[in-house]
Amino acid sequence: MSSVTIESTREHRVTVPGLARRKRRGQKISMLTAYDFTFSRIFDTAGIDVLLVGDSLGNVVQGVETTLPVTLDEVIYHTRLVARGAQRALVVGDMPFGSYQVCAEDAVRSAIRFVKEGGAQAVKLEGGKAVASAIERIVVAEIPVMGHVGLTPQAVHRMGGHRVQGRTEKSRQRVLDDAKAVQDAGAFAVVLEGMPAELAAEVTDSLSIPTIGIGAGVHCDGQVLVMHDLLGLSDWTPSFVKQYANLGAVASSAARTFAEEVANEKFPDDAHSYR
Ligand code: KIV
Repeated sequence: MSSVTIESTREHRVTVPGLARRKRRGQKISMLTAYDFTFSRIFDTAGIDVLLVGDSLGNVVQGVETTLPVTLDEVIYHTRLVARGAQRALVVGDMPFGSYQVCAEDAVRSAIRFVKEGGAQAVKLEGGKAVASAIERIVVAEIPVMGHVGLTPQAVHRMGGHRVQGRTEKSRQRVLDDAKAVQDAGAFAVVLEGMPAELAAEVTDSLSIPTIGIGAGVHCDGQVLVMHDLLGLSDWTPSFVKQYANLGAVASSAARTFAEEVANEKFPDDAHSYR
């Protein structure tokens, strides 16, 4: 396979129909989480196709153990920051726990807030058959929806932890049925999280919409990582994560040097003082 340079695949603005074309042409999709203006601009300029304002912000920004306490207001706030930094990437707001499960009307109201207040171009929500009616209603409101099946962190208590899904026949069938339900409800793409690579390949082959994998092997139509894992800012990362940089160590060393220079009156020196 010949290698792809990012410049050669760049279109002006990444759109929902553009992502469908990518799948038809066999061109892979890159997605990263982002939570603020600075990283949104960096990732956008680097050519990342989709910026997901994930409810993982609970874990990596707020320091809580699960994504369950994250509120709609909080994700919308971060979506607004990310939307300001993205000129090319598609910005997707992640609907937090409680913002779409009660009824389809609630789901539509929450999704509209992501577009109106957050500047998102699409929303993502977790689940399959159980959320199909919510997806249908949001799509009717002209808001594109990305699904998310397999390991769904908002179902942490049902799953008994963040466990790989699809390893038994029953669970495998559930993943296949959920992915199909999400597509039939009108989703434009679906995240496949935490499942054997062969199952993700089977789902990807069976769907006409793009699949975006995380811990789901190489055969998905695209890949997503949490930015803190990619950049080496997390204390712990799952085994499927590839760390592309070690910004945690760089930041720690910079802070330590600053503290030492302050203690030793080396900073600010003449070059960094007003006259
Ligand atoms: O919240 C999130 O960051 C996500 C990705 C892991 C897909 O849902």
